[in-house]
Amino acid sequence: MSTAGKSTRILEIDPSSPKIEYIIEAARVVKEGGLVVFPTETVYGLGADALNSVAVRKIFYVKNRPLDNPLIVHISKLEQLETLSNDVIKEVYRLAEKFWPGPLTVIIRRSEKIPWEVSAGLETVAVRMPAHPVALKLIEFSETPIAAPSANPAGRPSPTSGEHVKRDMMGKVDVIIDSGETLYGVESTIIDVTRDPPILLRPGALPVEEIEKTINKKITIPEFARGLMEASEAIAPGMKYRHYAPFKPLIVIESQDYSDLENYSLKVFKHVKRLMDEGFKPILLSTMETIGYYHGLKTFNLGSRKNLFEVARNLYKLLRKIDELDVDIAVSEGFEEKGLGLTIMNRLRKASGYNIIRID
Ligand code: TXA
Ligand code: MG
Repeated sequence: MSTAGKSTRILEIDPSSPKIEYIIEAARVVKEGGLVVFPTETVYGLGADALNSVAVRKIFYVKNRPLDNPLIVHISKLEQLETLSNDVIKEVYRLAEKFWPGPLTVIIRRSEKIPWEVSAGLETVAVRMPAHPVALKLIEFSETPIAAPSANPAGRPSPTSGEHVKRDMMGKVDVIIDSGETLYGVESTIIDVTRDPPILLRPGALPVEEIEKTINKKITIPEFARGLMEASEAIAPGMKYRHYAPFKPLIVIESQDYSDLENYSLKVFKHVKRLMDEGFKPILLSTMETIGYYHGLKTFNLGSRKNLFEVARNLYKLLRKIDELDVDIAVSEGFEEKGLGLTIMNRLRKASGYNIIRID
Protein backbone atom coordinates (compact mmCIF):
# COMPACT_ATOMS: atom_id res chain seq x y z
CA MET A 1 0.00 0.00 0.00
CA SER A 2 1.50 3.37 -0.93
CA THR A 3 1.57 6.07 1.71
CA ALA A 4 2.48 9.44 0.27
CA GLY A 5 2.63 11.18 3.59
CA LYS A 6 -0.85 12.43 4.37
CA SER A 7 -2.74 10.77 7.19
CA THR A 8 -5.92 9.45 5.68
CA ARG A 9 -8.98 8.94 7.84
CA ILE A 10 -11.04 5.90 6.82
CA LEU A 11 -14.75 6.05 7.53
CA GLU A 12 -16.76 2.89 7.03
CA ILE A 13 -20.28 3.98 6.22
CA ASP A 14 -23.09 1.50 5.69
CA PRO A 15 -25.16 2.83 2.76
CA SER A 16 -28.38 1.42 4.18
CA SER A 17 -28.05 3.47 7.39
CA PRO A 18 -25.37 6.13 6.93
CA LYS A 19 -23.88 7.26 10.22
CA ILE A 20 -24.52 11.00 10.30
CA GLU A 21 -21.50 11.84 12.52
CA TYR A 22 -19.24 10.39 9.83
CA ILE A 23 -21.01 12.25 7.04
CA ILE A 24 -20.66 15.50 8.99
CA GLU A 25 -16.97 14.81 9.55
CA ALA A 26 -16.34 14.18 5.84
CA ALA A 27 -18.45 17.20 4.87
CA ARG A 28 -16.35 19.42 7.12
CA VAL A 29 -13.26 18.30 5.23
CA VAL A 30 -14.94 19.24 1.91
CA LYS A 31 -15.90 22.66 3.30
CA GLU A 32 -12.34 23.25 4.47
CA GLY A 33 -10.95 22.54 1.02
CA GLY A 34 -9.81 18.95 1.60
CA LEU A 35 -10.16 15.79 -0.48
CA VAL A 36 -12.74 13.09 0.25
CA VAL A 37 -13.04 9.80 -1.60
CA PHE A 38 -16.70 8.79 -1.58
CA PRO A 39 -18.90 6.08 -3.10
CA THR A 40 -21.41 6.67 -5.86
CA GLU A 41 -23.70 4.12 -7.49
CA THR A 42 -21.29 3.95 -10.47
CA VAL A 43 -17.70 4.09 -9.19
CA TYR A 44 -15.91 5.85 -6.30
CA GLY A 45 -15.22 9.55 -6.76
CA LEU A 46 -12.32 11.74 -5.57
CA GLY A 47 -14.19 14.81 -4.37
CA ALA A 48 -13.55 18.42 -3.48
CA ASP A 49 -15.63 21.60 -3.16
CA ALA A 50 -16.47 22.38 -6.80
CA LEU A 51 -16.48 26.13 -6.14
CA ASN A 52 -13.03 26.20 -4.53
CA SER A 53 -10.32 26.26 -7.19
CA VAL A 54 -7.46 25.56 -4.79
CA ALA A 55 -9.24 22.43 -3.52
CA VAL A 56 -10.07 21.30 -7.06
CA ARG A 57 -6.48 21.67 -8.16
CA LYS A 58 -5.45 19.08 -5.55
CA ILE A 59 -7.61 16.50 -7.34
CA PHE A 60 -5.53 16.85 -10.49
CA TYR A 61 -2.33 16.57 -8.50
CA VAL A 62 -3.39 13.44 -6.60
CA LYS A 63 -4.72 11.67 -9.70
CA ASN A 64 -1.86 12.83 -11.87
CA ARG A 65 -4.57 14.05 -14.23
CA PRO A 66 -3.78 16.44 -17.08
CA LEU A 67 -5.25 19.90 -16.40
CA ASP A 68 -7.08 19.95 -19.74
CA ASN A 69 -9.40 17.13 -18.64
CA PRO A 70 -12.50 18.65 -16.95
CA LEU A 71 -14.42 17.22 -13.97
CA ILE A 72 -18.01 16.21 -13.29
CA VAL A 73 -19.81 18.32 -10.69
CA HIS A 74 -22.09 16.34 -8.36
CA ILE A 75 -25.23 17.93 -6.93
CA SER A 76 -27.83 16.75 -4.42
CA LYS A 77 -30.74 18.96 -5.42
CA LEU A 78 -31.96 20.51 -8.65
CA GLU A 79 -31.70 24.11 -7.41
CA GLN A 80 -27.92 23.73 -7.47
CA LEU A 81 -28.11 23.66 -11.27
CA GLU A 82 -28.80 27.37 -11.14
CA THR A 83 -25.47 28.05 -9.43
CA LEU A 84 -23.66 26.08 -12.11
CA SER A 85 -25.42 27.52 -15.15
CA ASN A 86 -27.40 30.64 -16.07
CA ASP A 87 -29.40 29.03 -18.85
CA VAL A 88 -30.43 25.46 -18.17
CA ILE A 89 -32.41 24.24 -21.16
CA LYS A 90 -35.74 22.39 -20.88
CA GLU A 91 -34.28 19.09 -22.02
CA VAL A 92 -32.00 18.99 -19.00
CA TYR A 93 -34.98 19.23 -16.65
CA ARG A 94 -36.78 16.50 -18.56
CA LEU A 95 -33.75 14.21 -18.25
CA ALA A 96 -33.27 15.15 -14.60
CA GLU A 97 -36.86 14.30 -13.80
CA LYS A 98 -36.53 10.89 -15.39
CA PHE A 99 -32.98 9.83 -14.51
CA TRP A 100 -31.79 11.78 -11.44
CA PRO A 101 -30.62 10.80 -9.01
CA GLY A 102 -28.82 8.29 -11.21
CA PRO A 103 -25.95 7.49 -13.58
CA LEU A 104 -26.49 10.22 -16.16
CA THR A 105 -24.17 13.22 -16.63
CA VAL A 106 -25.25 16.16 -18.77
CA ILE A 107 -23.07 18.86 -20.27
CA ILE A 108 -24.51 22.34 -19.79
CA ARG A 109 -23.34 25.88 -20.35
CA ARG A 110 -21.39 26.96 -17.28
CA SER A 111 -21.82 30.06 -15.16
CA GLU A 112 -18.95 32.33 -14.08
CA LYS A 113 -19.02 30.67 -10.63
CA ILE A 114 -17.32 27.53 -11.98
CA PRO A 115 -13.56 27.65 -11.41
CA TRP A 116 -11.39 27.34 -14.53
CA GLU A 117 -9.97 24.01 -13.28
CA VAL A 118 -13.38 22.30 -13.09
CA SER A 119 -14.26 22.87 -16.71
CA ALA A 120 -10.65 23.07 -17.92
CA GLY A 121 -11.36 26.37 -19.59
CA LEU A 122 -14.38 25.16 -21.59
CA GLU A 123 -17.64 27.10 -21.79
CA THR A 124 -19.50 24.09 -20.44
CA VAL A 125 -19.66 22.01 -17.27
CA ALA A 126 -20.59 18.36 -16.69
CA VAL A 127 -23.20 17.75 -13.97
CA ARG A 128 -24.89 14.80 -12.35
CA MET A 129 -26.94 13.94 -9.28
CA PRO A 130 -25.69 10.57 -8.00
CA ALA A 131 -28.11 8.01 -6.59
CA HIS A 132 -25.91 6.68 -3.79
CA PRO A 133 -27.33 7.67 -0.38
CA VAL A 134 -23.86 8.39 1.05
CA ALA A 135 -22.93 10.61 -1.91
CA LEU A 136 -26.20 12.54 -1.65
CA LYS A 137 -25.82 13.08 2.08
CA LEU A 138 -22.20 14.14 1.71
CA ILE A 139 -23.10 16.79 -0.88
CA GLU A 140 -26.05 17.97 1.20
CA PHE A 141 -24.00 18.38 4.39
CA SER A 142 -21.08 19.96 2.51
CA GLU A 143 -23.54 22.66 1.35
CA THR A 144 -21.71 22.91 -1.97
CA PRO A 145 -21.57 20.94 -5.21
CA ILE A 146 -18.72 18.42 -5.25
CA ALA A 147 -16.38 18.08 -8.22
CA ALA A 148 -15.18 14.50 -8.56
CA PRO A 149 -13.49 12.35 -11.16
CA SER A 150 -13.28 8.60 -10.63
CA ALA A 151 -10.91 7.98 -7.71
CA ASN A 152 -8.23 6.06 -9.66
CA PRO A 153 -4.80 7.25 -10.70
CA ALA A 154 -5.16 8.60 -14.27
CA GLY A 155 -5.34 5.84 -16.87
CA ARG A 156 -6.18 2.98 -14.48
CA PRO A 157 -9.50 1.14 -14.08
CA SER A 158 -11.99 3.07 -11.92
CA PRO A 159 -12.40 1.85 -8.33
CA THR A 160 -15.57 -0.07 -7.58
CA SER A 161 -14.90 -1.13 -3.97
CA GLY A 162 -13.51 0.18 -0.70
CA GLU A 163 -10.51 -2.12 -1.18
CA HIS A 164 -9.69 -0.48 -4.53
CA VAL A 165 -9.78 3.07 -3.16
CA LYS A 166 -7.77 2.20 -0.10
CA ARG A 167 -5.11 0.69 -2.33
CA ASP A 168 -5.08 3.67 -4.73
CA MET A 169 -5.63 6.66 -2.45
CA MET A 170 -4.27 5.85 1.02
CA GLY A 171 -1.93 8.60 2.17
CA LYS A 172 -2.98 10.94 -0.65
CA VAL A 173 -6.36 12.23 0.52
CA ASP A 174 -7.87 13.43 3.80
CA VAL A 175 -10.79 11.00 4.01
CA ILE A 176 -11.77 7.73 2.36
CA ILE A 177 -15.36 6.66 2.82
CA ASP A 178 -15.62 2.89 2.44
CA SER A 179 -19.16 1.78 1.65
CA GLY A 180 -18.30 -1.55 0.05
CA GLU A 181 -18.95 -2.38 -3.60
CA THR A 182 -20.66 0.05 -5.93
CA LEU A 183 -23.85 -0.93 -7.74
CA TYR A 184 -23.06 -0.45 -11.45
CA GLY A 185 -19.29 -0.75 -11.39
CA VAL A 186 -18.99 1.43 -14.49
CA GLU A 187 -19.18 5.23 -14.85
CA SER A 188 -22.16 7.41 -15.71
CA THR A 189 -23.34 7.99 -19.27
CA ILE A 190 -22.37 11.47 -20.50
CA ILE A 191 -24.39 13.37 -23.06
CA ASP A 192 -23.93 16.83 -24.45
CA VAL A 193 -27.38 18.39 -24.77
CA THR A 194 -25.99 21.79 -25.69
CA ARG A 195 -25.80 20.37 -29.24
CA ASP A 196 -28.65 19.44 -31.50
CA PRO A 197 -28.92 16.52 -32.02
CA PRO A 198 -27.35 15.70 -28.64
CA ILE A 199 -24.04 13.80 -28.67
CA LEU A 200 -23.07 10.83 -26.58
CA LEU A 201 -19.65 11.64 -25.11
CA ARG A 202 -19.27 8.48 -23.05
CA PRO A 203 -21.56 5.46 -22.87
CA GLY A 204 -22.06 4.40 -19.26
CA ALA A 205 -24.34 2.74 -16.75
CA LEU A 206 -27.48 4.20 -18.34
CA PRO A 207 -28.12 2.75 -21.82
CA VAL A 208 -28.26 5.47 -24.47
CA GLU A 209 -31.44 3.96 -25.93
CA GLU A 210 -33.29 4.88 -22.72
CA ILE A 211 -32.22 8.50 -23.01
CA GLU A 212 -33.35 8.60 -26.64
CA LYS A 213 -36.79 7.38 -25.61
CA THR A 214 -37.09 10.12 -23.02
CA ILE A 215 -36.08 13.06 -25.21
CA ASN A 216 -37.65 11.48 -28.26
CA LYS A 217 -34.57 12.24 -30.35
CA LYS A 218 -31.80 10.21 -31.88
CA ILE A 219 -28.51 10.80 -30.07
CA THR A 220 -25.37 10.99 -32.19
CA ILE A 221 -22.89 8.26 -31.29
CA PRO A 222 -19.45 9.32 -32.52
CA GLU A 223 -16.70 6.78 -33.16
CA PHE A 224 -14.83 7.82 -30.03
CA ALA A 225 -17.88 6.99 -27.86
CA ARG A 226 -17.65 3.46 -29.24
CA GLY A 227 -14.04 3.43 -28.05
CA LEU A 228 -12.74 3.20 -31.59
CA MET A 229 -10.69 6.35 -31.77
CA GLU A 230 -9.71 9.34 -29.77
CA ALA A 231 -11.89 12.41 -29.47
CA SER A 232 -10.83 15.81 -30.67
CA GLU A 233 -9.99 18.05 -27.76
CA ALA A 234 -12.91 20.41 -28.14
CA ILE A 235 -15.70 17.84 -27.99
CA ALA A 236 -14.73 15.43 -25.26
CA PRO A 237 -11.43 16.39 -23.77
CA GLY A 238 -10.92 13.37 -21.52
CA MET A 239 -11.55 10.83 -24.21
CA LYS A 240 -8.18 11.31 -25.82
CA TYR A 241 -6.21 9.64 -23.03
CA ARG A 242 -5.63 5.92 -22.58
CA HIS A 243 -8.03 4.76 -19.93
CA TYR A 244 -9.19 1.95 -17.69
CA ALA A 245 -6.07 -0.04 -18.46
CA PRO A 246 -4.41 -2.89 -16.61
CA PHE A 247 -0.61 -2.70 -16.62
CA LYS A 248 -0.40 -5.90 -18.67
CA PRO A 249 -1.30 -5.89 -22.36
CA LEU A 250 -4.91 -6.61 -23.31
CA ILE A 251 -6.26 -7.77 -26.68
CA VAL A 252 -9.96 -7.64 -27.58
CA ILE A 253 -11.21 -10.19 -30.11
CA GLU A 254 -14.28 -8.80 -31.85
CA SER A 255 -16.85 -10.20 -34.23
CA GLN A 256 -19.59 -8.51 -36.29
CA ASP A 257 -22.00 -11.13 -35.10
CA TYR A 258 -22.22 -12.97 -31.80
CA SER A 259 -25.15 -15.20 -32.70
CA ASP A 260 -23.02 -18.31 -33.30
CA LEU A 261 -21.04 -18.36 -30.06
CA GLU A 262 -19.66 -21.84 -30.58
CA ASN A 263 -17.99 -20.79 -33.82
CA TYR A 264 -16.85 -17.48 -32.31
CA SER A 265 -15.27 -19.12 -29.27
CA LEU A 266 -13.47 -21.64 -31.47
CA LYS A 267 -11.73 -18.74 -33.21
CA VAL A 268 -10.96 -17.04 -29.88
CA PHE A 269 -9.59 -20.33 -28.60
CA LYS A 270 -7.19 -20.56 -31.55
CA HIS A 271 -5.85 -17.04 -30.92
CA VAL A 272 -5.21 -17.74 -27.26
CA LYS A 273 -3.63 -21.11 -28.06
CA ARG A 274 -1.30 -19.40 -30.51
CA LEU A 275 -0.21 -16.96 -27.83
CA MET A 276 0.59 -19.93 -25.59
CA ASP A 277 2.60 -21.58 -28.34
CA GLU A 278 4.57 -18.36 -28.63
CA GLY A 279 5.47 -18.66 -24.95
CA PHE A 280 2.94 -16.25 -23.41
CA LYS A 281 0.88 -16.96 -20.29
CA PRO A 282 -2.53 -15.55 -21.22
CA ILE A 283 -5.79 -15.14 -19.31
CA LEU A 284 -9.04 -15.07 -21.26
CA LEU A 285 -11.99 -12.92 -20.20
CA SER A 286 -14.94 -15.02 -21.31
CA THR A 287 -18.63 -15.30 -20.53
CA MET A 288 -20.95 -17.82 -18.95
CA GLU A 289 -22.16 -18.86 -22.41
CA THR A 290 -18.66 -19.54 -23.78
CA ILE A 291 -16.46 -20.49 -20.85
CA GLY A 292 -17.23 -24.20 -21.39
CA TYR A 293 -15.51 -24.10 -24.80
CA TYR A 294 -12.13 -23.12 -23.38
CA HIS A 295 -10.74 -26.32 -21.88
CA GLY A 296 -7.11 -25.99 -20.92
CA LEU A 297 -7.08 -22.17 -20.95
CA LYS A 298 -6.93 -19.90 -17.93
CA THR A 299 -10.21 -17.97 -17.88
CA PHE A 300 -12.24 -15.37 -16.00
CA ASN A 301 -16.02 -15.33 -16.25
CA LEU A 302 -17.26 -11.78 -16.89
CA GLY A 303 -20.87 -12.92 -16.46
CA SER A 304 -23.74 -13.77 -18.75
CA ARG A 305 -24.28 -12.17 -22.16
CA LYS A 306 -27.95 -12.10 -21.23
CA ASN A 307 -27.16 -9.92 -18.21
CA LEU A 308 -24.80 -7.19 -19.38
CA PHE A 309 -25.39 -5.32 -16.13
CA GLU A 310 -23.44 -8.15 -14.48
CA VAL A 311 -20.66 -8.02 -17.11
CA ALA A 312 -20.28 -4.24 -16.73
CA ARG A 313 -20.23 -4.62 -12.98
CA ASN A 314 -17.45 -7.22 -13.04
CA LEU A 315 -15.32 -5.53 -15.68
CA TYR A 316 -13.05 -3.19 -13.68
CA LYS A 317 -12.69 -5.67 -10.86
CA LEU A 318 -11.39 -8.29 -13.31
CA LEU A 319 -9.22 -5.81 -15.22
CA ARG A 320 -7.51 -5.05 -11.92
CA LYS A 321 -7.16 -8.75 -11.09
CA ILE A 322 -5.21 -9.36 -14.30
CA ASP A 323 -2.31 -7.47 -12.79
CA GLU A 324 -2.32 -9.65 -9.67
CA LEU A 325 -2.18 -13.01 -11.44
CA ASP A 326 0.71 -14.98 -12.82
CA VAL A 327 -0.16 -14.15 -16.44
CA ASP A 328 1.54 -11.80 -18.87
CA ILE A 329 -1.23 -10.95 -21.31
CA ALA A 330 -5.03 -10.80 -21.26
CA VAL A 331 -7.48 -11.49 -24.06
CA SER A 332 -11.14 -10.51 -23.90
CA GLU A 333 -14.18 -11.57 -25.85
CA GLY A 334 -16.24 -8.82 -27.47
CA PHE A 335 -19.93 -7.92 -27.12
CA GLU A 336 -22.69 -6.64 -29.33
CA GLU A 337 -22.86 -2.82 -29.05
CA LYS A 338 -26.42 -2.61 -27.80
CA GLY A 339 -27.56 -1.32 -24.42
CA LEU A 340 -24.75 -1.79 -21.93
CA GLY A 341 -22.84 -3.69 -24.63
CA LEU A 342 -21.84 -0.29 -26.07
CA THR A 343 -20.46 0.75 -22.67
CA ILE A 344 -18.57 -2.51 -22.21
CA MET A 345 -17.01 -2.31 -25.70
CA ASN A 346 -15.98 1.31 -25.15
CA ARG A 347 -14.14 0.35 -21.96
CA LEU A 348 -12.57 -2.80 -23.37
CA ARG A 349 -11.32 -1.12 -26.54
CA LYS A 350 -9.81 1.77 -24.60
CA ALA A 351 -8.34 -0.50 -21.92
CA SER A 352 -6.66 -2.45 -24.71
CA GLY A 353 -5.15 0.72 -26.14
CA TYR A 354 -7.03 -0.14 -29.38
CA ASN A 355 -5.36 -3.53 -29.51
CA ILE A 356 -8.26 -5.10 -31.40
CA ILE A 357 -8.47 -8.26 -33.50
CA ARG A 358 -11.49 -8.60 -35.82
CA ILE A 359 -12.31 -12.14 -36.79
CA ASP A 360 -14.95 -11.85 -39.50
O1 TXA B 1 -19.84 7.84 -12.85
C1 TXA B 1 -19.12 8.82 -13.02
O2 TXA B 1 -19.32 9.66 -13.92
C2 TXA B 1 -17.94 9.00 -12.05
C3 TXA B 1 -18.51 9.23 -10.64
C4 TXA B 1 -17.43 9.53 -9.63
O3 TXA B 1 -19.48 10.23 -10.69
N1 TXA B 1 -17.10 10.10 -12.46
C5 TXA B 1 -16.27 10.02 -13.54
O4 TXA B 1 -15.49 11.14 -13.72
O5 TXA B 1 -16.24 9.07 -14.28
P1 TXA B 1 -14.21 11.17 -14.68
O6 TXA B 1 -13.55 12.46 -14.40
O7 TXA B 1 -13.42 9.95 -14.46
O8 TXA B 1 -14.82 11.22 -16.11
C6 TXA B 1 -15.50 12.38 -16.50
C7 TXA B 1 -15.41 12.57 -17.99
C8 TXA B 1 -14.03 12.91 -18.46
O9 TXA B 1 -13.73 12.10 -19.57
C9 TXA B 1 -14.13 14.37 -18.89
O10 TXA B 1 -13.31 14.68 -19.98
C10 TXA B 1 -15.59 14.51 -19.25
O11 TXA B 1 -16.25 13.69 -18.31
N2 TXA B 1 -16.05 15.89 -19.08
C11 TXA B 1 -16.12 16.60 -17.95
N3 TXA B 1 -16.54 17.85 -18.18
C12 TXA B 1 -16.76 17.94 -19.50
C13 TXA B 1 -17.20 18.99 -20.38
N4 TXA B 1 -17.50 20.19 -19.91
N5 TXA B 1 -17.31 18.71 -21.69
C14 TXA B 1 -17.01 17.47 -22.17
N6 TXA B 1 -16.57 16.44 -21.39
C15 TXA B 1 -16.45 16.68 -20.08
MG1 MG C 1 -12.26 8.36 -14.84
